[in-house]
Amino acid sequence: MLIVGPEDEFNVALSMELGAKLIPVERRVFPDGEVCPRVLGKVAGERVVLSMRMKAGSCQPNSYIMEVLFTIRNLKEHMKADSVIALMPYFPYARQDAIFREGEPLSSKYVANLLEDSGADAVITFTAHLHRISDIRDLFSKSDFLNLSGFEALARELRRLPLKDPFILGPDTESINWARELAQHYGTDEYDAFGKERDISTGEIRTLTKQLDLRGRDVIVVDDIVSTGGTMANALKSAREMGARCLIAAFVHPVLAPGSLERLLGAGADIVISTDTLEWVGSRATVVPTVASVLSGR
Ligand code: R5P
Repeated sequence: MLIVGPEDEFNVALSMELGAKLIPVERRVFPDGEVCPRVLGKVAGERVVLSMRMKAGSCQPNSYIMEVLFTIRNLKEHMKADSVIALMPYFPYARQDAIFREGEPLSSKYVANLLEDSGADAVITFTAHLHRISDIRDLFSKSDFLNLSGFEALARELRRLPLKDPFILGPDTESINWARELAQHYGTDEYDAFGKERDISTGEIRTLTKQLDLRGRDVIVVDDIVSTGGTMANALKSAREMGARCLIAAFVHPVLAPGSLERLLGAGADIVISTDTLEWVGSRATVVPTVASVLSGR
């Protein structure tokens, strides 16, 4: 097995854990925005794991998808790899897993189809935000699709903190599943979630709190994604108003649009913990061991 991807900390760690050689990819971008990812090594006849991530703070899902599609096709068609597993730790367009308003695309499915058509034998991701699809493997018809939990890595990191009477809180109704998943990995049954209303056109958020006794407790507000930080910031503020002592903002995917981190800190976050599913210097929890254990069994 070969790891093919940028020579960054994530891929170096993954190749070391698996004892697999890392073949670098040079991520060239032309001045007009066109991408030209170049594989710097031989892969003929090999099982390849293509591992590429987006950058937090300046996420460019469209360029990223093109880079991944071009590289998979190149690896299979021209460079004659035997098989390609695409490791996309944060799956772009997953949130558009339904047609919310007439005339919109079903983007998550279209991205899956593009990956299959380019020749991906399998796709591995973490905590895909697919709430309205009952079986997420339905997205793909040919390729294998693995949706791993990013909460295992978060829990591992959270357990290092000496928290007082911890409570895990999701910021909106859908996040009760994330709160439960994190609670299971962390080893507690102290969790719940607020509600949220979002104006579908303006994106404006209103948090609907509920009766919870958070006084003097350390509260871990957990979500899958922080993008603008609005959802998480509202919940942090409410938790503080309800008497929380230390506030931890914990999330899997640090999309972190400009201004979001300031929003979290301004809302009272004492500690920010995310995984490394996107490139971010602040990521404290790594998903590399989870990927490595799945890949070593394949
Ligand atoms: C939405 O349902 C997701 O789980 C997140 O809550 C959302 O994507 C966070 O977005 P933002 O940081 O922009 O509020």
